[in-house]
Order: sequence, then structure tokens, then C-alpha cells
Amino acid sequence: MMKFNDFEVHLTEDGSPSLKPADSEAMHSSKGAFAETLYIYGHGLKNSPQEGNSFNILSVGLGLGYNEILWASYCLANNKNKSFLHSYESIPYLSDSFIKWINNQQTELSKTYDKILKLFSNEFKITEQEIRKFLRERYNHSFFIHPALTSINKTTLTFNCIFYDAYSSATSPELWKPEFLESFLINYPDNHCSLSTYAAISALTKALAGQGFQVKKRKGFGYKRECTFAIKKPQN
Ligand SMILES: C[S@@+](CC[C@H](N)C(=O)[O-])C[C@H]1O[C@@H](n2cnc3c(N)ncnc32)[C@H](O)[C@@H]1O
Repeated sequence: MMKFNDFEVHLTEDGSPSLKPADSEAMHSSKGAFAETLYIYGHGLKNSPQEGNSFNILSVGLGLGYNEILWASYCLANNKNKSFLHSYESIPYLSDSFIKWINNQQTELSKTYDKILKLFSNEFKITEQEIRKFLRERYNHSFFIHPALTSINKTTLTFNCIFYDAYSSATSPELWKPEFLESFLINYPDNHCSLSTYAAISALTKALAGQGFQVKKRKGFGYKRECTFAIKKPQN
């Protein structure tokens, strides 16, 4: 285990790294951060209602950037050239470190990102250089990192695929309140949209159903009983 800036990096059971703030919960399942990302968010990405090769993705909780590296790998492997990703992260240290790393600058977390990159490179058969170049070249063009998502964030954008990877309601209660979820689901999803998350709490299920999503409960990853994949498409 290594400690940086009040964070501890530890390995999960599939050998992939995760991060735990000293005073908070770990970011991933102890069963495997990489495997969990593929199972929850890889499934969300593959099954999102994409029209043509253009689609917009919203990632809540950049953390170590698993979902951002997943996006880049998936786009490269599937020739998705017109995809946009907007990521939100409340801890500037994490956003700054990730941006430095994609620009080939050394940070305390560089080796950790390198390990994650290698796993995606092997999985998607895309070189590590290509994936990092994709993120670097798209940063501030079609890949944006924003500060904390709040109930007053306003956006003119809508999204086809949402990764809702916030901390649990014990740590980030504001992001799981019914009022917050309702306004989030009114404002952010496109008419064609999927939402995936490791969580399966009733406030989320109710808010999704209330905004026209079909909620499909899946077996949870690791020790979790269930997780959520929800999809919304216009009725014909
Ligand atoms: C479960 S971790 C995300 C793990 C991440 N997706 C990854 O691939 O490593 C949750 C993240 O959400 C961030 N967070 C907490 N509150 C937030 C907010 N209001 N807006 C955006 N991010 C937030 C935390 O700092 C943490 O990095």
C-alpha cells in the first residue's frame, strides 16, 4: 500500500489498483477495480442506445480515471470518432493528476495510471500510447473534466450514456437524495440514454422510472447483491 496526499493506493483481488482517501471509503470493489469497471460501466457503454457513431457520455466521479480510459479504449476499438465525454470530480488533486498524466507529466499517481492503462490496452488490443494520445488530444475538445457535480450545475448538453460512479450514500448523501436524482435525470439524459451504476438503491430506481427509464437490475459485482442498468428510448 502506498500513501499520497491523504490517499492510499492498494491492489484489489484482480491485481488492479484502487484508491482510498484516508478518511473515506475505497473507490472500487475489493474483488477487482478493473473487473468491476468492465462489468458495470463497460456493459453500460456497449448497451447504450447509440445512434450512428456520435454519442455523448457523462461520468460522475473521475476518481482514478478507469471510466475515462475505458471510454478512450472503447472508442478506439470501435471507431467511435464523434464521442464526447464530460467527467466530474470534486477533488482537484485527482483531476490535476489525471490531466498531468495524460500529458506525460510525472505525478505521484503516474505509476498507478500506467497500470490501469496496461490492463485496458491488453483487454481492447489497443496500444497504451494510442489510448493516452486519444485522451490527450481530445482533452478540452471532446473530453472535459469539470469540478463537483452539484444540484445547481447547468448544462445545455444531454447525454446518451451516464456512468453514475459516485461514492455511496453514506459518503456522498447529496448525490443520492430523491430531489437531486430527479433534477439530474430531468436535465442530463438525452431521449436515448442509458445509466449504469454499481448501486441499486430504491431512490435511484424510483427516480429513473419516474423519468421514463426502464430499470434492469443486474447481479451486483463482488459482494454487492444487485447493480443498476437503466435505459430510455423514445416510444414509437
Ligand atoms: C467511487 S469513486 C469513482 C471511481 C472512478 N470512477 C474511477 O474510475 O476510479 C467516486 C468519486 O466521486 C468523487 N466525487 C464525490 N462527490 C462528487 C461530486 N459532487 N461531483 C463529482 N465527483 C464527486 C470522489 O472524489 C471520487 O473520486
